[in-house]
Order: sequence, then C-alpha cells, then structure tokens
Amino acid sequence: MILVTGGAGFIGSNFIRDWIAQGGGPVTNLDCLTYAGNLASLADVAARPEYRFARGDIGDRAFVRQLLSDTRPRAVVNFAAESHVDRSIHSGGEFVRTNVVGTFNLLEEVRAYWSALPPAEQAAFRFLHVSTDEVYGSLDFADPPFTESHRYAPNSPYSASKAASDHLVRAAHHTYGLPVLTTNCSNNYGPYHFPEKLIPLMILHALQGKPLPVYGDGRNVRDWLYVADHCSAIRLVLEKGRVGETYNVGGRNEKSNLEVVHAICTLLDELSPRADAVPYAAQVSYVKDRPGHDRRYAIDATKLESELGWRAAEDFATGLRKTVQWYLANPAWIEGVTSGAYRQWVDQHYAQAAA
Ligand code: NAD
Ligand code: TYD
Repeated sequence: MILVTGGAGFIGSNFIRDWIAQGGGPVTNLDCLTYAGNLASLADVAARPEYRFARGDIGDRAFVRQLLSDTRPRAVVNFAAESHVDRSIHSGGEFVRTNVVGTFNLLEEVRAYWSALPPAEQAAFRFLHVSTDEVYGSLDFADPPFTESHRYAPNSPYSASKAASDHLVRAAHHTYGLPVLTTNCSNNYGPYHFPEKLIPLMILHALQGKPLPVYGDGRNVRDWLYVADHCSAIRLVLEKGRVGETYNVGGRNEKSNLEVVHAICTLLDELSPRADAVPYAAQVSYVKDRPGHDRRYAIDATKLESELGWRAAEDFATGLRKTVQWYLANPAWIEGVTSGAYRQWVDQHYAQAAA
C-alpha cells in the first residue's frame, strides 16, 4: 500500500491512474477536495480493488494518524498543495496553511508512524515530496537551466510556500533520519488539468470564442513536461532514488507563452476549426502582466537521467496534440469541473487583468 496525498488533483490523479495501470499495487488517496480536487478525474479507477479514497486534510493530525495506522503504507507521495500562482497573489493564506503548516503536520505524523515500524519496514519506507522548479526563482534568457544545487529564490507566495515545504522535508531527514526524497519538476500539462492554468484555459477559451489572455508581452518561458512523464519520474525516484536526495524533473521543452498559445491555436484549427474558418489565433489578447511574473524557468534533468536512467517519452508537439485531443473528447469532465466557483474566479481575475 502507498498513500498518495492530493490524488484528486491534476498530477495526483494521473499518477494514481498510471500506478494502477502499471500494477503498482494498492493505493490510498488522501484528499480534502478543494476547488482543484475532482473525483471525476478518477472515475475510471474508483471501483478498482486496489484503490481507496479517504477525504481529509494533510494538516489534520488526528485524521492522518488514524489513516496511517489503518492503511500501513510503505510510502507516502505528497502531491497535496495549493498550486496556482495567480490565486496565491490574490490570497496567500491557504498556501501557507496547506503547503507549509499542512506539510509540517503530515511530516510529524508520518515520522511518528515510521519510527514505530519494525526495522526492515522502517528501512524500506519512503516519503516522496512533489515540488516545483519555481522554488529556484527566475532565470534570464542566457542563464543555464536549474540544477539541484541552484540556490532557492522563490518569488511568489506559491513558490515561497513550496520552498518552505521543501526545507521542512529536508529537515525531517537531516534531523530525524526520515527517509525522504524530493522532486522539483517544471510545468506539467496533459489530461485532467484544471482549466485555470495556461494550457487548458487557452483550449477552453478558444473553443468558447473568448479572448486568449496572454500576460504582459507573452515572452515568459516555461519548460513544459507531459504529465505522464512526470509520473514515470516519480515512480522511478520512489523505487531507486537515493534517500535524502532531490531530483529535478523536466523534458527540455522550453517555450514562450506565445509559442504555446499559437501551438494550441494551430492544433485547434486542424482538429476543431471555427465555424467561420477564422484562425483561433485571432482571439489572442494581451492583458496586464502578473505582478512579479518570473521570466523563465528551465530544468536540467541530467541527474535523474544519468543516475536513474529516466527519459521523457513525449516531446512538446506529441504531448500537446494528445492534450488538445483529450480536451476535445472530454466535454463532460470540463462541464463537471467548471462550477460556479470556477466561473467566478475566471470572471474576477480576468476583469482585473483587462482593467
Ligand atoms: P492541483 O491544484 O491540481 O491539485 C492539488 C490537490 O491537492 C487537489 O486535489 C486538492 O483537493 C488537494 N489538496 C489541497 N489542499 C489539501 C489539503 N490541505 N489536504 C489534502 N488535500 C489537499 O495541483 P497539481 O497541479 O496536481 O500539483 C500537484 C503537486 O505537484 C503540487 O504539490 C504542486 O506544487 C506540484 N507541481 C505541480 C506542477 C504543475 O505544473 N502543475 C509542476 C511541478 C510541481
Ligand atoms: P500557469 O499555468 O499559471 O503556471 P505557472 O505560473 O506556475 O508557470 O502559467 C504559465 C505561464 O502562462 C505563466 O508565465 C503565466 C502565463 N499565463 C498567461 O499568460 N495567461 C493566463 O491566463 C495564465 C493562466 C497564465
């Protein structure tokens, strides 16, 4: 049994689906179902005998204690987090509550559980913390990509809260010997991505005939990784990673936001052209920049590749095509997750950006 936190979110749900498909064994999903958590993302595995869902908060120590004692996991994979930079700029409290305090409480309970395990199980146990490249801050265009030894310099409330959680994980290992692993991954994209993030938001807005809101000059660069490749990296690090180490995860797919938006438009022109035959790119609209907007992220994944033999299976062209096809084929999922609360966020946020 492994315990996955935040498994009803974008990456966690992909991870659980892949884990079961690869015959990874029983998995418990601990998720409190915030706006970003959707059980519809796991509808196809919900009835599998290996899968169990437990609704709860990683910060609720009594709940976590009971769940650990009931399920007796051999590993915990911690995805649970508030994850959207724009929301962290509007209101950072939840980011501190879940990403910092929640991770701390989870670590405390996991450590108590781990300490009481028989020696062989204690030695085999792992706590894998899923983190982001955003903890390293922003690169200039000519800088080399982030390696694991790059200094932490988070710039948003989101990345600052993730940096704090990484430090707490590190401290749990250094101080108490908890067998931890940390992965720092670049921007993910793929199926079940909540449509507040760049790629799914642009696909949806394009299909709905809405403006495609590009922040600032659109030249900010992100290093995009197809979500299944992130999941394969996590599985590998969990199995073979050296305890106490951090591993950067990225597929060397640096793209400016404008390149991403135009690539989406081109795919939609081919796969679902507008009724009036006007290219979707006509909907591109520049809006006010995000405050403190990091210019560039780029990952050097050499350590993961050379030590553990990981390779990304998708490049940006193949991954983006799969992603656009998935959104076109799954209108019911989109309908299900774009609730009243989602529409309220989009209306408020983009009204301010346009102002
Ligand atoms: P997401 O926002 O889609 O999902 C987060 C999940 O965590 C949701 O299901 C939510 O209900 C759950 N959750 C939130 N607070 C919780 C709490 N207190 N207790 C229990 N569950 C809680 O996020 P994602 O994009 O799937 O990201 C997952 C993890 O990967 C995060 O830690 C994020 O920092 C990291 N990450 C994301 C990316 C990316 O591009 N999305 C890249 C690198 C790293
Ligand atoms: P996002 O998906 O929010 O990921 P992150 O901020 O964690 O990298 O944004 C990716 C990039 O796209 C980022 O540079 C901000 C930009 N962006 C837009 O230009 N318009 C949008 O509507 C959104 C959501 C993001």
